[in-house]
Amino acid sequence: MIRTPLMTVMVQAVRKAGRALVRDFGEVENLQVSAKGPANFVSAADRKAEEILFTELSKARPGFSFLMEERGRVEGTDVSNEWVIDPLDGTTNFLHGIPLFAISVGLVRNGLPYAGVIFNPVADELYIAEKGQGAYLNDRRLRVAARRKLADCVVSCGLPHLGRGNHARFNRELAAVQTQVAGLRRTGAAALDLAWVASGRFDAFWERDLQSWDMAAGLALVREAGGYVSDLDGGDKVLEKGDVIAGNEDMHRDLLALLKSA
Ligand code: IPD
Ligand code: CA
Ligand code: CA
Repeated sequence: MIRTPLMTVMVQAVRKAGRALVRDFGEVENLQVSAKGPANFVSAADRKAEEILFTELSKARPGFSFLMEERGRVEGTDVSNEWVIDPLDGTTNFLHGIPLFAISVGLVRNGLPYAGVIFNPVADELYIAEKGQGAYLNDRRLRVAARRKLADCVVSCGLPHLGRGNHARFNRELAAVQTQVAGLRRTGAAALDLAWVASGRFDAFWERDLQSWDMAAGLALVREAGGYVSDLDGGDKVLEKGDVIAGNEDMHRDLLALLKSA
């Protein structure tokens, strides 16, 4: 695998932020037993990771614009290149000491996902993809899973919880999918859900009410791994609408049909 200069820059920034998150995660595990819990500590860790990404990427590519979960939009002189960043995806997991979270950095070029890095620093799993260059997990080329029947598939989903999303609609969708698949999962980190579709661990994934920083990097990964991604109407307005479905060509089509019927 030849790593392009762009990918080198992205990986260096993400690894640096990953080292900070891992240090803080160690502390969070200790804070579980304290009365106040680790909430304030975690939001500081989140902002610190974002600051590292912002500093490193601005240095390496001056002028590129940013859309970050914590700081919001920072327009550069080059608005056709935008870093779309979630410094900590899977905050609830992190907060509870569950080692399933990731840094997600996407590069959106002229409005379309161009490259992505998703890094789970605890597992040391680095997912990278750049348009036309393929998708990789720690230097291993990725392909989406080849399963052709929903009955054989493990499908991941987002789950609306307290104060979030449309619970009645989700329950209808869940009822429709539940009886048709081999397994259902909910990781709590949408970026990892997409990375795991790209790597074939999950056959498909759907979720509503996401933000572009949850998905920008993952979209590049799934597509470069040969997968299909769309919004839940089957169109390409994933980043605009905030809902997503991903899988191989067949599982994307069949799961989408099932969800539409719900
Ligand atoms: C969340 C995670 C989760 C998804 C939520 C997101 P955060 O991001 O990706 O899996 O279900 O909708 O907000 O808050 O942990 O960065
Ligand atoms: Ca997120
Ligand atoms: Ca986040």
